[in-house]
Amino acid sequence: MSKRYSSIVVLTGAGISAESGVPTFRASDGLWEGHKVEDVATPAAFIRDPDQVHRFYNQRRRFWLDGIEPNAAHQAIAEFSQQFSGQFTLVTQNIDNLHQRAGTKHVYPMHGELLKIRCQDTGQLFDCTSDTQKEQHCPCCDIAGNLRPHVVWFGEMPLFMETIEQALAQCDLFIAIGTSGNVYPAAGFVQTARYYGAETVEMNLVPTTPDHLGGSVFDQEIIGPATVTVPTFFQLLLGSSVHNDKNT
Ligand code: APR
Repeated sequence: MSKRYSSIVVLTGAGISAESGVPTFRASDGLWEGHKVEDVATPAAFIRDPDQVHRFYNQRRRFWLDGIEPNAAHQAIAEFSQQFSGQFTLVTQNIDNLHQRAGTKHVYPMHGELLKIRCQDTGQLFDCTSDTQKEQHCPCCDIAGNLRPHVVWFGEMPLFMETIEQALAQCDLFIAIGTSGNVYPAAGFVQTARYYGAETVEMNLVPTTPDHLGGSVFDQEIIGPATVTVPTFFQLLLGSSVHNDKNT
């Protein structure tokens, strides 16, 4: 990394939190954390069986509040975001709050946040660190059943899309970390960044598009566990940015 970049977008997925103990999504049995996606993560599921959906997110919230901590990869990115003098944007598909807890600047959780709930009528957000139920009254409208997890379900529009598109169009370096590239629109961000001229880097445990499936769309692949590859990569990137800043 000897080039000086002025605008960097990082996209993260479940893989960056794997070494914190958070399971990734796509198990080989086709289930999503032991559930069918359509039973727990769609607007139709919430209408059909709100108890089941609340129970699913209550379990995940309890699990994450019980000792899950940011790891070395989250911390390295947080440090970079605090020291980089250019424009920095962290887009995460994760709802686990670990980037925010690590102190990362400019975080856009495009799939929502598990530690927030939302009024379905007004859109007002509330912090949430305990179980939620169907019978619960919403603090803003006082209607029972109006609160839902502040997560983007399948079939819903991700958050912050305008800001993200702008950042992708302006960046000169795009880095995707720990994401399988299965879910759009995030899976298409690499193509948008490339279209506008950015260099692109993928960091993953395995190549997400191996040669027999057409080969990678990224300029560079860095293969290995995020807690090892990410700190090294971002320290080098920061070193070259600081070095170049001093020379300009
Ligand atoms: N270091 C780096 N990468 C890792 C590690 C690790 N320690 N462990 C796993 N990975 C990689 C896997 O190889 C895989 O490519 O992380 C990726 C995780 O992929 P998914 O489970 O599909 O997660 P993600 O890409 O974030 O899913 C996107 O899909 O289900 C929805 O809304 C959900 O936000 C999620 C979205």
